[in-house]
Amino acid sequence: MLRGRSLSVTSLGGLPRWEAGLPVENLLLFEVSWEVTNKVGGIYTVIQTKAKTTADEWGDNYFLIGPYFEHNMKTQVEQCEPVNDAVRRAMDAMNKHGCQVRFGRWLIEGSPYVVLFDIGYSAWNLDKWKGDLWEACNVGIPYHDQEANDMLIFGSLTAWFLKEVTDHADGRHVIVQFHEWQAGIGLILSRARKLPIATVFTTHATLLGRYLCAANIDFYNHLDKFNIDKEAGERQIYHRYCMERASVHCAHVFTTVSEITAIEAEHMLKRKPDVVTPNGLNVKKFSAVHEFQNLHAMYKARIQEFVRGHFYGHLDFDLEKTLFLFIAGRYEFSNKGADIFLESLSRLNFLLRMHKSDVTVVVFFIMPAKTNNFNVETLKGQAVRKQLWDTAHSVKEKFGKKLYDALLRGEIPDMNNILDRDDRTIMKRAIFSTQRQSLPPVTTHNMIDDSTDPILSTIRRIGLFNSRTDRVKLILHPEFLSSTSPLLPMDYEEFVRGCHLGVFPSYYEPWGYTPGIYIVDRRFRSPDDSCNQLTQFLYGFCKQSRRQRIIQRNRTERLSDLLDWRYLGRYYQHARLLTLSRAFPEKFHMEPTSPPTTEGFKYPRPPSVPPSPSGSQASSPQSSDAEDDDEGERYDEEEEAERDRLNIKSPFSLSHVPRGKKKQHGEYKN
Ligand code: UDP
Ligand code: G6P
Ligand code: GLC
Repeated sequence: MLRGRSLSVTSLGGLPRWEAGLPVENLLLFEVSWEVTNKVGGIYTVIQTKAKTTADEWGDNYFLIGPYFEHNMKTQVEQCEPVNDAVRRAMDAMNKHGCQVRFGRWLIEGSPYVVLFDIGYSAWNLDKWKGDLWEACNVGIPYHDQEANDMLIFGSLTAWFLKEVTDHADGRHVIVQFHEWQAGIGLILSRARKLPIATVFTTHATLLGRYLCAANIDFYNHLDKFNIDKEAGERQIYHRYCMERASVHCAHVFTTVSEITAIEAEHMLKRKPDVVTPNGLNVKKFSAVHEFQNLHAMYKARIQEFVRGHFYGHLDFDLEKTLFLFIAGRYEFSNKGADIFLESLSRLNFLLRMHKSDVTVVVFFIMPAKTNNFNVETLKGQAVRKQLWDTAHSVKEKFGKKLYDALLRGEIPDMNNILDRDDRTIMKRAIFSTQRQSLPPVTTHNMIDDSTDPILSTIRRIGLFNSRTDRVKLILHPEFLSSTSPLLPMDYEEFVRGCHLGVFPSYYEPWGYTPGIYIVDRRFRSPDDSCNQLTQFLYGFCKQSRRQRIIQRNRTERLSDLLDWRYLGRYYQHARLLTLSRAFPEKFHMEPTSPPTTEGFKYPRPPSVPPSPSGSQASSPQSSDAEDDDEGERYDEEEEAERDRLNIKSPFSLSHVPRGKKKQHGEYKN
């Protein structure tokens, strides 16, 4: 029991003795983010994938707070009544006073409770809340910054809710973790009102970092030289910056997601993070050894179907020798490295053509932009493909029936006459429909800003228009993927598995949800050198055999364990414990301890073991169909037997995670 006595928490082998008995039943944990049930970028993934680990630990005392959007609620949340008395009373009080607070279970693994505020419904309070914010910290929000105004409403509602909860918490201690500046006002107001809560503020990126990098400034080599107030003012984000910095300094505990962002935060926000909480994933374990290889083949087949439609009339390349590459995430052209990726693709196209390679590369850019629906040519492509499929199917049925009848009669039919004139006419008509006057489009949607869009403008400059002679073909899909899309009905995770290589040569990336296998140096090299390096990686990848790709997939799958929240969740535990000891020192003592490590973690027994690098790197050009899959699998099994014999286990420490070490990279995922 916590109530009425103090609890001493000590370190256990680098890990706080948290799991060893902190009574979470006497605590309430809230996590606040604009991305709860609302997909914007990586924070959504952080919260969504971590939910299971946190819910397992905290049970019914864990709540996520986010904005209410009708569509999100309808598709992701099962509405229910709160069981927790403090939460129910807080909601009742607010709903009685002109707010609309919804409650339910988020339908993801762990099914955490969510409290969602309807921002529009409470907008009538905006002026008063502007006054409250000014009184609390002298920050004013200009009327034209709609996003910041929404955040003010969100933050004011959060602080109101937390006040009501703490009023009815019945002696329970409350921990609240706020993610990113958008959630920060709730924190600032709660602290100004001296609410009895222990707070954590997590920054996933700094506002100035994003803006300065996007302006192509040599950011990381000048971190200590910026006049930050001036920079924020000139970019018209001074008020946002003030909210961000105030949040950082109001929090009992400040955390960020990587070492590189910790350094950045120290310079941009003037506080050194107390804990680095690296992001993880809810890693799915496969029971059968080669299940994920089968999944790759299955999802690749779906991508191939899409490509058949998209390139109708121009399918003069062999899909079995076609590699699928992608880049995905929020549309920040240079921050996400789309600029150097395009440049490298242009060079790759040149190399593949010059060496008369039989490999074709289809590259997808999955970056949401403003559009008004799919373009006609793209939809037509899928319709043509479907028509060809239907034609082939009906002719096949007829053919099959005739063949069957002939066999029943004991005859082998004359293959030249088995199809009649009508069948041939139907087939010819179908082939005619595949004629097109234009090249396969480089984008799937009608772009609102077509003429100024940075990806399209670059494509125009480098001239990669999907012509027959190009070995590199481009497709911009300016919308996140969804299994309900009429065009490419796949979830992002499925798509990633079906592709061969993800490329993320970001310049600004505090974390980035993709493990890196090849790392492009973007800090100590000129953009042109980075580009050459990336081109070499891509060209090397194109020269790999299927067997080598299979081995590399096995290897990458094995690495995913390093990113499992089961291990990384302990950094969050550490932050929560630290905030309790700072906010309620009379109740919680924390022995001085260094932040946790993942000490003791051993690589799991791998489904297959990495071969030596020489085994997976092509040293000289070779044909990709030289070896078949079985060889790859046999190779892995031999390696595995060898590893079992030697009982090799590798120690793991976070510094080995490629992602944490580097801020920019090109990478392999799949
Ligand atoms: N993503 C997605 N659907 C897509 C493409 C990407 O949900 O079709 C997600 C992806 O899972 C990742 C996020 O977009 O979690 C991008 O996050 P990241 O941390 O890489 O960068 P951010 O956009 O937050 O800066
Ligand atoms: C997986 C499947 C194989 C398939 C291979 C294709 O390993 O199990 O049956 O041939 O993927 O790999 P690729 O890299 O050529 O898409
Ligand atoms: C931010 C960063 C991204 C990170 C994500 C989740 O949006 O830009 O790099 O992966 O937050 O922490």
